[in-house]
Amino acid sequence: MYVNPRRVRKCQFMQIFATCFILSLMIFWGPLDDSNIVSHVKSYSYRYLVNSYAFVNESLSVSKDDGDRTAGYRYLINHPEKCRQKDILLLLFVKSSPENRYRRDAIRQTWGSDEYAHSHFNANIKTLFALGQLKDSARREQMQKGLRAEDEKYGDLIQQDFMDTFHNLTIKLLLQFSWVNKYCPHAKFIMSADDDIFIHMPNLIEYLQNLAQIGVQDLWIGRVHRGSPPVRDKTSKYYVPYEMYPWPAYPDYTAGAAYVISSDVAAKVFVASQTLNTSLYIDDVFMGLCANKMGVVPQYHHFFSGEGKAPYHPCIYDKMMTSHGHVEDLRYLWKKATDPKVKTISSGFWGRMYCKIVNIVLLCKIYYQDTYPCTAALF
Ligand SMILES: *[C@@H]1O[C@H](CO)[C@@H](O)[C@H](O)[C@H]1NC(C)=O
Ligand SMILES: *[C@@H]1O[C@H](CO)[C@@H](O)[C@H](O)[C@H]1NC(C)=O
Ligand SMILES: *[C@@H]1O[C@H](CO)[C@@H](O)[C@H](O)[C@H]1NC(C)=O
Repeated sequence: MYVNPRRVRKCQFMQIFATCFILSLMIFWGPLDDSNIVSHVKSYSYRYLVNSYAFVNESLSVSKDDGDRTAGYRYLINHPEKCRQKDILLLLFVKSSPENRYRRDAIRQTWGSDEYAHSHFNANIKTLFALGQLKDSARREQMQKGLRAEDEKYGDLIQQDFMDTFHNLTIKLLLQFSWVNKYCPHAKFIMSADDDIFIHMPNLIEYLQNLAQIGVQDLWIGRVHRGSPPVRDKTSKYYVPYEMYPWPAYPDYTAGAAYVISSDVAAKVFVASQTLNTSLYIDDVFMGLCANKMGVVPQYHHFFSGEGKAPYHPCIYDKMMTSHGHVEDLRYLWKKATDPKVKTISSGFWGRMYCKIVNIVLLCKIYYQDTYPCTAALF
């Protein structure tokens, strides 16, 4: 391919110009940085003008020995045999906590049922719950007894001996990726999800079966955060100090609430996770750094929801993949969303027209809802 050298020089000039521009923003607006607007201007300009995370990669890289140190948590409960079967469409890790038995049971009886996926769609799915240990040492022994009994019954817990806390979520991420690498590298897709999420399993299976047929690679889908700035407000749960991450924007990543990757991406992320400083405790951002290092880019899927619950309507159920924040109403939603009537309402010309209009009304609101974007209604 012929490339005009003049053109190249022009591009480089733009890059240098943009970098200087953002550096000057950082210097002059530095003291004002707690302001939301300033940090967003900086992060978006970084994302859209510079968009190079090479030095992030270099500064956060650790030597191999340091990487090994963090990988050393012991399994308290494990199921190496879970993936013995050859043909596995999806390995689904649900990030749970020891005390969330109620949520796990609801998931087992609804979207997390492997039998349901097999009997209705002839798809092999393995659902596992990733856990650490209870933080409260006084109740820990009692809790372990309960967990062992639960695991005896269902055989679906994977637990390591780190403390199950918010700031240890990156360790839980490493658990998932090292487990996949060791025991399940042949699963076609891997999903990671929170335990307060709803997954429309029939829609997801259909989607993944189609992708598997064309042998898709480099897949990473979910709700993408583009150019998010690190939170510098010390009172926030997501606060990240400058010493940990001095740059104005994170590489693109998908919300940790639910995302799907293909097995080749899982392998790449695992490799990168062994070489990066794991002290960054926001697990989905850490995943973004790993993927960025390996040149993997996330793709937006319109029906992976944000923080908000999706509207309750058959026209939404027809397309939905995930919806966030469902605990008490999980069984109800599962029953409604997988009802065969959903398909009849949205089928045919008039059904499609009707649903398009309903979805526009439900999703294209003036105020921000953080469910599915308005554009989702247009497809
Ligand atoms: C990240 O850094 C490593 C060395 O620290 C280098 O080998 C690799 O190519 C870098 N990746 C990117 C995407 O810059
Ligand atoms: C994470 O788990 C380790 C191992 O149990 C523990 O030492 C550490 O205090 C935990 N960190 C946080 C922030 O909870
Ligand atoms: C990882 O980063 C933290 C600061 O966020 C630093 O204190 C620590 O020394 C780093 N670890 C390695 C192995 O470089």
